[in-house]
Amino acid sequence: MDAVGSALGNRSPSDRTLNNFVRCTQYPSVRVAQHQKLEFGKICSYGNITLRKHARALKIFQCGDKVPDVSNSSEEKGWSVSPLRKNLAIFVSGGGSNFRSIHNASANGLIHGDVVVLVTDKLGCGGADYARDHDIPVIQFPKLRDSLEGLSPTDLVIFLRKLKVHYILLAGFLKLIPIELIQAYPRSILNIHPSLLPAFGGKGYYGLKVHKAVIASGARYSGPTVHFVDEHYDTGRILAQKVVPVLANDTAEQLAARVLREEHQVYAEVVSALCDERVVWREDGVPLIRSRDNPDEYL
Ligand code: GRF
Repeated sequence: MDAVGSALGNRSPSDRTLNNFVRCTQYPSVRVAQHQKLEFGKICSYGNITLRKHARALKIFQCGDKVPDVSNSSEEKGWSVSPLRKNLAIFVSGGGSNFRSIHNASANGLIHGDVVVLVTDKLGCGGADYARDHDIPVIQFPKLRDSLEGLSPTDLVIFLRKLKVHYILLAGFLKLIPIELIQAYPRSILNIHPSLLPAFGGKGYYGLKVHKAVIASGARYSGPTVHFVDEHYDTGRILAQKVVPVLANDTAEQLAARVLREEHQVYAEVVSALCDERVVWREDGVPLIRSRDNPDEYL
C-alpha cells in the first residue's frame, strides 16, 4: 500500500468529508476540492501535505512527516498548467466581487492565467463560498492563535510555491501581508484599494470608511488604485488608477458602488497585463503597463 493508500486506510474519524472536500486533521483549514488539473491517480506534495485524486469527485490528502518529496517528479506535472499561463492566488476577506470578476476574465480568455487557490482569513466569507462552488482550493491564513486552524506564513509560502503560484492578488483581504510572503514574491503581489492613493489609504481605511472620508474631505474625484504590496498598508508602488467623480449628493454607499464597478474592470485589465508580462519598471522604480497593441505606449 502506498503513502496515500495507507492514509486512506488510516483515516481517523475526525477526518470529515464536506461537499466533496476532505478536511485534514493536522491542517483542518486546508480543504481540497476536486480539481480538474490534478489527473486521476497523480500525486503531489505540498511540504508535509500530500494530495492525490482518489476518485472522480474527490481528492484525498494526507498530512504526516514521512511524505515523499515528489516536487521534481513527473507525477507532479499532473498539477502544473501550461508554462504559458500564470498561476494566481487570490486573497479575500469578504464578498469577493473583485475575485469573481478576475475569475470570469480568466474563464473568458481576457486573463492568460488561472486562479489556483483562494486564501482567506474568513472561511465563511462570500469569496470562499464562490471558490468552493468553482472547485478552487480554499486555504485559511493566517493561523489562529492556539488553534490548528490556518497556515503559518512559512507554510503558506511553501504551499504557494508548490502550487507554482506566480502572482498573488489581494482583493479585499484585511490582514497585513507578512514579510515572509513579501520577500518570497518580490514585485508579484498586487492589491486594489478603493481610493486614489496615496490619499485615503493606510491602516483603518477600508470599506465604507474610505468613501465616507473622501466625501467628508470635499474631494471631487475618487477611484480605485491597483498597487504593488509592501510591508505596510497601501504604500506600495502604484500601477494603475481610474478616476470616478464624487457627486454633490453622493452617499458613501453610492460612491462605493460607482468605484467598485471601475475596480472590477481595472483589476482585470491589470492582471491581464501582468500575466502577459506587460508590466515594466522605470529606472526610478515606478511600474508601468505597456500597451498590448503598441509596445512603445503605456497605459
Ligand atoms: C474593494 O472595495 C477593494 O477595493 C477593497 O476591498 C473591497 C473588496 O470588495 N480592497 P470585494 O470583496 O471584491 O467585493
